[in-house]
Parts: sequence; structure tokens; C-alpha cells
Amino acid sequence: MTARMMDGKALAERIREKVATDVAELGDPVSLATVLVGDDPASAVYVRHKHKACSESGIKSVHHALESDTRESDLLDLISELNIDLSVTGILVQLPVPNQIREESVIRSIAPRKDVDGLHPANAGQLFQGEPTLLPATPAGIMELLLAYDVELEGTKAVVVGRSNLVGKPIAALLLQANATVTLCHSRTRNLAEVTRCADVLVAAVGRPGSITADMVKPGAIVIDVGINRMDDRLVGDVDSGVEEVAGMLTPVPGGVGPMTIAALLQNTVKAARYQSGLIEMPKGWG
Ligand code: GUN
Repeated sequence: MTARMMDGKALAERIREKVATDVAELGDPVSLATVLVGDDPASAVYVRHKHKACSESGIKSVHHALESDTRESDLLDLISELNIDLSVTGILVQLPVPNQIREESVIRSIAPRKDVDGLHPANAGQLFQGEPTLLPATPAGIMELLLAYDVELEGTKAVVVGRSNLVGKPIAALLLQANATVTLCHSRTRNLAEVTRCADVLVAAVGRPGSITADMVKPGAIVIDVGINRMDDRLVGDVDSGVEEVAGMLTPVPGGVGPMTIAALLQNTVKAARYQSGLIEMPKGWG
């Protein structure tokens, strides 16, 4: 069997066109503030892609580049200003941040209504209560991709490998909400291959190339490769190339989950604008 490739690039383009229509219809300007602390080249590339996508969809974006030795208190001051700035719809602090800054303090300091990454505990909590608000972009993009390819999740066995707040935990919650039976695996999981081989839907969010090999995949399974790893000047995922011969469907890297993450970020920014303008009621948990 050769897996059918799930074209995230094409779907993301369609979503971005819809976002552009939504932005035009909203009338009010929609804007995204991004913050990058330090000069990590990969993070800089991701942020550039986000700005390009914003500008193509009619979303204004403003970048704040901070030195790598920025103090946590200075970053929190900037976020406080962005929180109260009425011209800013969404705030995104590119992760990871340097060691002197506590990631959780930064995430907590972003106003939940502007948290277009969906990482604030108020938004993460709403997701786990089954009342999603602003969703983390990568998991939201994966769910859109599964929907577009008519993947019926109800009753399936879904296995997620990787338990980050950014991807693993929220995608597990979303798959559960779609009535899949979910197993969340991580670096201490025993007999990982035994678990992954049971998966009808397998999400690889490990951050290491070649983590999921063909012998770990059930024939015909749907495999979502979240990894973006740079190897000698090319991008590879977490899934080994041999999986193509076993899986039923597979997301390519590049061109699978990556473009969907950016499309979902744009959708979140429009959703944040709708919350802020009262077009959707804000959840009580946002205070
Ligand atoms: N770093 C890698 N992925 C992401 C993401 O989706 N959002 C943020 N803020 N940082 C990231």
C-alpha cells in the first residue's frame, strides 16, 4: 500500500482565502502582534511565515523583536501594553523563549481574549471542559485536515505520541471530544510500538526525525506527522519515510501540518476579533 498524501498546503490556501473574506466582512481592522525573543533562526522563519500569511489575508501584523537577554519583567511589560492596546486583536509570543524567561509566566500574562495560541490556562481549561474557545493552532489545523479528508473519528483508536502543551495534550483533548478513544504516549511510555500499532489514527509530535517507523504503524492507519526537523538543509518530519508504504493516509513534511498551523492561527485571530467586538459571547472564565 502507498499512503494517500493529505495536502495541507492546498487546504490551508482555501482557508486563508476564507479568512480574507471574513476579515473584509468584519469591517474593523484585525491585527496580530508577534513577539520573538532572541535570534533563533528557525523561530525567525516561522514568524516571517506568519506575517506573510497575515498580510495576504488582510490582517495587519506588527512584530516586536527583543534581544536574547531580555528580562522576563520587560517582556511582561510589553505584553501588558499589548493587552490594553485596542488596535491589537491577537498576541503571539513565539516559543521557545530563552531560559531566563519562564514560559508559563508569559503565557499567563496574555489576555485570554487575545491569546491566539490558545495556551492560556483559561483557554486550555475551556478546551478540556469540552467548551473550546481559542484553540492551539497546530491541533486546530490537524482537526480541520481530518475533517476535510472525511476521516470519521468516532469510535476509532487514536494514539498521540508527545505530551506538549502546544500539541500533544490539546490534540488528545480534541480527538477525545470527537469521540475517539485516545492514548497519550510520551518518553516514558513502555513498549511504544505495541501501543502505536493499535492506532487507527496516529499523531506523531515528538520533535525527533525517524521516531515513528513502519513497524510501529498499523496497515491502513491515518498518520499525522507534526514534526518539522531540519536535516542537512531539508525539512523532515518525525515519521520515517518507510511509513508511506504502510499507512492509509499520511501528512507530508513540508506541506502537511505546517501550513495548517498558520491557517488556524489566522482563523483564531478572526475569532478573537469576533469575541472582542461582541459578535460571539466571551466565556465567563475570561474574567
Ligand atoms: N513554536 C512552535 N510552534 C509554535 C506555535 O504554534 N505558537 C508559538 N507561540 N510558538 C511556537
